[in-house]
Amino acid sequence: MALTSPEARIWWKEPLHKFEIIWVLIAFVWGLVMFFTMVWWHITGEQNLSNEAYRVNPDDYASRVEAWAAENKVREEGDTGIPVVRATAGGDVYMLARLWEWWPILELQKGQTYRLHLSSLDWLHGFSLQPTNINIQVHPDYEMVITITPDEAGEFGVVCNEYCGIGHHQMVGKIYVVEE
Ligand code: CUA
Repeated sequence: MALTSPEARIWWKEPLHKFEIIWVLIAFVWGLVMFFTMVWWHITGEQNLSNEAYRVNPDDYASRVEAWAAENKVREEGDTGIPVVRATAGGDVYMLARLWEWWPILELQKGQTYRLHLSSLDWLHGFSLQPTNINIQVHPDYEMVITITPDEAGEFGVVCNEYCGIGHHQMVGKIYVVEE
C-alpha cells in the first residue's frame, strides 16, 4: 500500500516485471477460454434454447393460432372449455399469451421435434415451463420460435414469470407430452 506518492511519477512507463506479464497473459488467455466455452457449450451442452424472433401483428397471430387450434383440437378441458390441441409430429405448434392465460393446451409426442411459436396479444408475459427450467420472455409484436424435443412424458405446467397485473398469479397453462 502506498501512503506517499510514488517516487517515479510516470509509473506506467516503468518496465513490467516478468511475473506481471505472465499473470496478465494468463488472465487474458483464460478470458478467451471462457469466451469460446460459451459458444461451444451452447452447441454441445444442449442446454440453451436457439431462438428465432419475427415481427408480428397481434391480431394476425391470434387468428393464426385460433385457426390452427380449431383444425387440430382433440378435446376440451375445464369449465372454460379450453381446447387441447394435438400437434402434428415434427410440425409447428402455437401458444399465445394474454391477460391472463396461456392458450391453448398443447399435446406433444415424446421424442418428436416441434417448432413452438409464442407471442403475446397484450403485455409482456414470461413463459416458464415447469418443472423444467425453460424461460422465455413473450412480447407483443414479436413471435418467438423455439425448436423443442420433449424427452420426457407427462404433464407440464406453464406459469407466467413476468408480472402482468392482477391476474398474473392465475396465468397458468399446460402441455401434455405423451408416449407414442
Ligand atoms: Cu402474464 Cu404474468
